[in-house]
Amino acid sequence: MTKTYTDKFPIDAFQQNLIEWFQREQRDLPWRKEKNAYKTWVSEIMLQQTKVDTVIPYFYDFMDKFPTLEALANASEQEVLKTWEGLGYYSRARNLQTAVREVVEDYNGQVPNTAEELGKLKGIGPYTKGAILSIAFDIPEPAVDGNVMRVFSRILKIEEDIAKPSTRKIFEAAVRELISEEDPSSFNQGLMELGALICKPKNPDCLLCPVQQYCKAFDEGIENLLPIKTKGKNKRTEPYAVLLIRDEKGRVLVQQRPEKGLLANLWEFPMAPLTDLDLQSIPNWFYGEYGIEVEIHEKEKDVRHVFSHIIWELNAYNATVLSGDLDHARARFCTKEELDMLPFPVSHQKLLSTL
Ligand code: ADE
Repeated sequence: MTKTYTDKFPIDAFQQNLIEWFQREQRDLPWRKEKNAYKTWVSEIMLQQTKVDTVIPYFYDFMDKFPTLEALANASEQEVLKTWEGLGYYSRARNLQTAVREVVEDYNGQVPNTAEELGKLKGIGPYTKGAILSIAFDIPEPAVDGNVMRVFSRILKIEEDIAKPSTRKIFEAAVRELISEEDPSSFNQGLMELGALICKPKNPDCLLCPVQQYCKAFDEGIENLLPIKTKGKNKRTEPYAVLLIRDEKGRVLVQQRPEKGLLANLWEFPMAPLTDLDLQSIPNWFYGEYGIEVEIHEKEKDVRHVFSHIIWELNAYNATVLSGDLDHARARFCTKEELDMLPFPVSHQKLLSTL
C-alpha cells in the first residue's frame, strides 16, 4: 500500500498562506509580466538546471530575437544556438525549436493546453508540462522539480530518495492533493519561490517561512536532514589536448561537433584525446584526421569543465600549420570576425578569449 502523506493536512489554510505570500513577495521576473504560453514555455526550458539570475539576460535577448513562436520556428538552428551560447544543455534549445515548429504547423501556432498534447512535444517532460498548464492556462497540474521535492519533503516529511527517478511520482501525487483549484498558477509558482528564497537546500530560513506552522520537518527540527538524496553516479574524467592552430594568414582552425550527442552542432577547436595519445604523437594523429602537418608550441591555458556525467580536462596548446591541405568535412579556418558568429560551448569560449 502506498503511504498517504496528506491525511488531516490543513489544505485550505496552507494554500491560502502560500498564495498570499507569493502574491506579496514574488520577485519581479521578466516572464511574469504577462500571461503568455510561449514566454512561460521558453522561461521554463531555460530555468531547467540554470539559476534565475543567469537566465534573465538570456530570456530578454531570446525574446528580442524570437518574439513569437513563428519567429523561432523560422530561425536557423545556428542562430538559436548562438543566442543560447553559454547557457549549457544545448539540446534544450534544439528541442524547443523542434517543438515550436510542430506547434506552428500542427496547432495553428497556439500552444496546446492539454497534458496529452503538450506531453508529446519534444523536450516537454512532466515538470515543464505542469508548469505551462498551471502558469499559462490555470490548470491544476503538479510541476515537480528538485526544488519542489525539497519543499514538499520537508513540509510533509517525505523520506523517499529524491535521486531515484520513480520518486517524482510520489511528490506529484502529494501536490495533486494540495494544489489550489482556484489559483494553481500562484500555488505552483509559490512553491518554486519558496524553494528559491526560503526553503533553501542548506540552512533554510524557517523563521521567515509563510507555511512554517504546517511543516513537519520544522516541527521535528529535521529540516536540514531532508530531502533524502543518495549520491549520484561518479563522473568520468576525460583529458584532451586542445589545439589552437593558426594558418599563415592568422586564421584559426575550428570544427562543428557531430549532429548528435554532447554539444551537438556547436563549434570547437580540435581536441586530441589524451587517454589514447601522448603529446608527442599528436602531430601524427592530427595528420591522419585532418590532412595537415602541425607544429605544437607552448601551453596556453588549462580549462576544466563539469558536465552532468563527464568532466573535461582541457590542456590548450598553441600550434601552427606547417604544410598540407585541410581534409575534414566539419572543420575550417576562420578569421576572428567569423569566429564571433559561431556558437561555442563555454569551455571553448574560454579558449577563444585567449586568441
Ligand atoms: N524555476 C523554475 N520555474 C521558475 C519560475 N517560473 N520562476 C522562478 N523560478 C523558477
